[in-house]
Amino acid sequence: MLAGKNVVLGVTGGIAAYKAAELVRLLVKEDATVDVIMTRNAAEFIAPLTFQTLSNRVVHVETFKLLVTSDISHTTLADRADLIIVAPATANFIGKFANGVADDMLTTTLLATLAPVLVAPAMNPKMWAHPAVLENVARLAARGVDFIGPEEGEVACKDIGRGRMSEPADILEAAEGVLTPPRLRGKRLVVTAGPTREPLDPVRFISNRSSGRMGYALARAARLMGAEVVLVSGPTALVPPRDVEVMSVETALEMQKAVKSAFAKADALIMAAAVADFRPAAPKDAKAPKDEYGDQLALARNPDIIAGLAKSKGKKLVVGFAAETGEADAKAAAKLKRKGLSAIVVNDVSEPGIGFESEDNEVRILFADGRSLSLARMAKADLAFEILMALFS
Ligand code: C5P
Repeated sequence: MLAGKNVVLGVTGGIAAYKAAELVRLLVKEDATVDVIMTRNAAEFIAPLTFQTLSNRVVHVETFKLLVTSDISHTTLADRADLIIVAPATANFIGKFANGVADDMLTTTLLATLAPVLVAPAMNPKMWAHPAVLENVARLAARGVDFIGPEEGEVACKDIGRGRMSEPADILEAAEGVLTPPRLRGKRLVVTAGPTREPLDPVRFISNRSSGRMGYALARAARLMGAEVVLVSGPTALVPPRDVEVMSVETALEMQKAVKSAFAKADALIMAAAVADFRPAAPKDAKAPKDEYGDQLALARNPDIIAGLAKSKGKKLVVGFAAETGEADAKAAAKLKRKGLSAIVVNDVSEPGIGFESEDNEVRILFADGRSLSLARMAKADLAFEILMALFS
């Protein structure tokens, strides 16, 4: 979402200004062009050269100097920006912005822009709680300015409370959200991800190689596209996306229960989880010596979660995933029909570099009405947006 975008980063005078350097690095890594505007106070906390080095662009500190040293004026940056982020934003800056004061390069640029604005406040918790600040924030929010944070924790002056600037990675995520068209606003989605674990005893289990990446990428993309998302996740090593409700489960039976309750309040279910088809029929309550397990393991069949819910889907969208090897389309089409799904996303896991445990995936979507759509190989993070766009178009 950020690649090729022009981002203006305003840095105001708080100790969290040093964290803004990391934000520039992250933005540049996403291939955004970053123009940094610092207030004079910000330049007391961190050297403009730091930002210049990281952004590889001239840093703007003072309007009048700029007239001499650069042909870029506040309106050039204001016109060119796809997004303006202010991080950290002090109480003073927020007060000025809320009241239309334009006495430096940053506030002037903000008055002259039509770009979306994301503000990451950072201040002492007592200042954040002051009615003047809260009123200013409410006024800006009513004008469509987006806010991230501040977070709870200890601030630089050792006070504890809400005032810390959000972490750069979270600000980056929020920036992606601001730039993503809200195609799924008003929708509630349940997404499942990861494997399930079926215990033999409290120590041993049967499971599979699903990493959960595709499901987590779908949950994140759906959230960024404005949906309310419940992520029902089997055990994975992944960090859940921001602002997503996570229901952690282990077994297929636990997943079934969680999905059922979440789906009752949702518009769509996307089952990217690799649900174990079988579970040990008689799991032990305690770990026993190996000889007590015998040579044969008695298995019980797990319920087909998606097929069960698809029966009463009505107008809700119920989407399955199928990882197949060979004749993938035909096998997936049969599953789509047998399970009564709205659509099935199929990938051929015999192809190297895609599917299980991979960063990339390459899929086809088969719809119940006979349509189908091929999506090129790409990172799961990007593919997630394409899949959602196709499913909700
Ligand atoms: O039958 P198969 O496991 O290949 O079907 C895959 C699809 O069905 C996936 O969407 C998976 O999440 C779902 N599934 C399920 N319950 C099971 C097995 C698979 O919901 N017990």
